[in-house]
Amino acid sequence: MSEINKIYNKISKVIPNIEWDFHAPYIEKINKLKKDKNAVILAHNYQTPEIYHGVADIAADSLALAIEASKTKADIIVLCGVHFMAETAKLMNPKKKVLIPDMDAGCSLASSITGEDVRMLKEKYPGVPVVSYVNTSAEVKAESDVCCTSANAVKVVESLGVDRVIFLPDHYLANYVQKNTKVKIISWQGTCIVHEKFTGNEVKDIRENNPGIKIIAHPECPPDVISASDFAGSTSSMVRYVKEKKPKKVLLVTECSMSDNIQIENPDVEFVKPCNLCPFMKKITLKKILDCLEKESNEIKIGDNIAARARKSVIRMADIGR
Ligand code: 13P
Ligand code: SF4
Repeated sequence: MSEINKIYNKISKVIPNIEWDFHAPYIEKINKLKKDKNAVILAHNYQTPEIYHGVADIAADSLALAIEASKTKADIIVLCGVHFMAETAKLMNPKKKVLIPDMDAGCSLASSITGEDVRMLKEKYPGVPVVSYVNTSAEVKAESDVCCTSANAVKVVESLGVDRVIFLPDHYLANYVQKNTKVKIISWQGTCIVHEKFTGNEVKDIRENNPGIKIIAHPECPPDVISASDFAGSTSSMVRYVKEKKPKKVLLVTECSMSDNIQIENPDVEFVKPCNLCPFMKKITLKKILDCLEKESNEIKIGDNIAARARKSVIRMADIGR
């Protein structure tokens, strides 16, 4: 069976035939060009199934993508995700050419805070270390002591051995961390426009109407959603939960594409799907991936001064690990 037919066999459950005819030529071209140029495609778990299963070499959460970027032997990294993820890849491996298929793939959390805001917080709380979520710009990372992702936020906060930290910019993630540590958390008012839309009542209704269902939420969700769920964790922890526990029915309280991507590998699990779409993640398409790989366009550049300081924060995060 040809490579392209093998891919279709895998994803036919979530991609209708009529759509496949449109995707297949792009997938073939991208996979060939990737080999010719010694490029690697790192994709976030929120990418659509044709990207996640069709062209990605690695599909993972933000912590794993950062670590994979640091280890790759490829000359070019195409980051299929949002801008802060591509910047983080560049910080982790500055000698590589890092491309993002759409420069406008932003993030409401990353745009909720600037380097100037962090300097203001440091003045207000002198000597209190700053932990920034990886969903921030390189400029914000440069002003921080260490970064974290949702996969290691509590571990990073506790690694500092202090009784107070500034934790930014996600207010809800800060809330989640506060529930799991004795360290006092000073937070910022950023939110994720995807996860803030879920409500505790919506989750409770779904549980009532689906006896036995397992509900797993991303820690960017509001506190009432997390307390109405069975488990909270990063996108890759969600993937692991479903793979290992094999619930009969599950609700992933997160971005839409996650359920489709995992459905393929877990055919016996029924996914209940009220989901919200991340408009930034959805800016990445096969056509844009091919275009940026052909032209080697949309390269991530970070000024030396910011890069040197921001790199320390992301390397420290990667060293702390999961
Ligand atoms: P993860 O680190 O869990 O993959 O989450 C990234 C993100 O942007 C969630 O909205
Ligand atoms: Fe940012 Fe939310 Fe989109 Fe993740 S889902 S990239 S946090 S806007």
